Amino acid sequence: MRQSGLAREDVFVTSKLSSIINEGQAVQAIEGSLDKLDIDYVDLFLLHAPWGDSYAAWRALERVLETGRVKAIGVSNFNAGAVADLTVFNRVTPVLDQIEIDPFNQKKTDVAYLRSQGIVPEAWGPLGQGRADLYTNPVLKGLADQHQKTVAQVVLRWNIQRGVVVIPKTTHRERMAENLAVFDFTLTKEEMAAISQLDEAPADFIYDPDYIQQTVAGFVKNWSK
Ligand SMILES: NC(=O)c1ccc[n+]([C@@H]2O[C@H](COP(=O)([O-])OP(=O)(O)OC[C@H]3O[C@@H](n4cnc5c(N)ncnc54)[C@H](OP(=O)(O)O)[C@@H]3O)[C@@H](O)[C@H]2O)c1
Repeated sequence: MRQSGLAREDVFVTSKLSSIINEGQAVQAIEGSLDKLDIDYVDLFLLHAPWGDSYAAWRALERVLETGRVKAIGVSNFNAGAVADLTVFNRVTPVLDQIEIDPFNQKKTDVAYLRSQGIVPEAWGPLGQGRADLYTNPVLKGLADQHQKTVAQVVLRWNIQRGVVVIPKTTHRERMAENLAVFDFTLTKEEMAAISQLDEAPADFIYDPDYIQQTVAGFVKNWSK
């Protein structure tokens, strides 16, 4: 970032707190992350998941927010119910929820709830994390051809138009340019509706009890060392 010569305010930096087991460790982890980044502030700090003592983690984020080293705080992998619960029992409402969203996993209920509360929905894995059948899907391919855009651009544009922030990742400069060139076309209401039909509403691994049990057991062990 420094080598790019960009002004600090032209870069948006997000960091994330992994699941923790008490408030003191959370503050320590957040401050450790800020020290490692070696910048005056981060724009957004997220709580990775609603696991462990997530209330303590959220209170720690609220404390760090007051120091000004963090400009805003949000959550990740919280479903709508978990966000509602966190909001009712805490002082600061998350500004954003980063969740897995792509055309086959649209999270319609979560997105509608977050938007109704003024919380920004953000899509991780917006391109299906490299899922090959995304790029060959006939509906998406048809829309891409129609607009002389790529499937990736149509998919990113669809989310932006429904009020979802996208954070596609790529290791290729040309794909980065491609993924940014999504503000010069608009999908019609009918085209948005056609993509809406692709939702498979899968059960997310992130909410799978076995996965959560294993993950939580792992971080309790790590933090107990
Ligand atoms: N909060 C969480 O729990 C969580 C979980 C997972 C990920 N994330 C975050 O979400 C962000 C993105 O998610 P992700 O990387 O998992 O998935 P993603 O952005 O949906 O997909 C990335 C994959 O798509 C490829 N790709 C990117 N642009 C493309 C294009 N225009 N055409 C064809 N292929 C393209 C990339 O390949 P190349 O690199 O080869 O171009 C890479 O394999 C990351 O910043 C990640 O840190 C958050």
